[in-house]
Amino acid sequence: MPPPHPETTLERRIQELGPWFHNMLVGGVRTEPNHFLGDYPAVKYRHIAQALPEDLSGCSVLDIGCNAGFYSQAMKRRNAARVLGIDTDDRYLAQARFAAEVEGLDIEFRRMSIWQIADLREKFDLVLFMGVFYHLRHPLLALDLIHEHVTRDLMVFQSLERGSHEILQPASDYDFSELALFNEPGYPRMHFVEHSYSHDPTNWWIPNRACVEAMLRSSGFRIESQPEDETYVCRWQPIETPPDGPHAVYPAGEQ
Ligand SMILES: C[S@@+](CC[C@H](N)C(=O)[O-])C[C@H]1O[C@@H](n2cnc3c(N)ncnc32)[C@H](O)[C@@H]1O
Repeated sequence: MPPPHPETTLERRIQELGPWFHNMLVGGVRTEPNHFLGDYPAVKYRHIAQALPEDLSGCSVLDIGCNAGFYSQAMKRRNAARVLGIDTDDRYLAQARFAAEVEGLDIEFRRMSIWQIADLREKFDLVLFMGVFYHLRHPLLALDLIHEHVTRDLMVFQSLERGSHEILQPASDYDFSELALFNEPGYPRMHFVEHSYSHDPTNWWIPNRACVEAMLRSSGFRIESQPEDETYVCRWQPIETPPDGPHAVYPAGEQ
């Protein structure tokens, strides 16, 4: 028997590693040609790409919830000096390592939860936090940890959003008797999913647009641009950590 055509071997390996959430080109082969979102995430990235520095030479990047590493690869292709992708799912990490190797990209992928990022003891010039927020039971804590422990400058944030796109600019305070405010469509609101949404029981919290923007501001991220419907490019800025913030989770000496 002649050895199988190399492309056939590649296709078979891609199939073995599937199903893929990132429909990407690996060695010229599509990982998930019938993806329910089409050419995803490339369609999303087309908008985001122009809002990010074209040349990341000398920069470090942390990709939280990297999945198969589409965005990690994109940042490495922009010459980032170091790219670290973390995810909790071994299946996705296997895809990410395989895809990066085939593409000849030097990217580190590590099995790590967002709840462990303080253990990295490293700040990154650019942090990607895309498509993970609403999968977490404690989303605001995640933003606090990202702000306090791993972001040096930029953070790209993306979340599923539902509800109104209106933005109500909140006053600094309201009287206890103010009730109507909470029925305003533009008031920051998070929808709690007790059971499942979109057949995915890991969808816990789905914010409206005002809520995303308010939570980013509250955790020390200044919104610089919104290159895509649900995606924000934010810049780190100092804040006074609230008394019940991440410090309360990591006792002194254990950070
Ligand atoms: C919807 S996918 C988003 C993937 C990619 N960031 C993107 O935007 O296309 C969510 C990813 O987050 C990962 N994830 C879920 N919970 C996590 C956690 N606690 N820490 C790190 N990654 C997590 C999942 O395994 C999955 O790969």
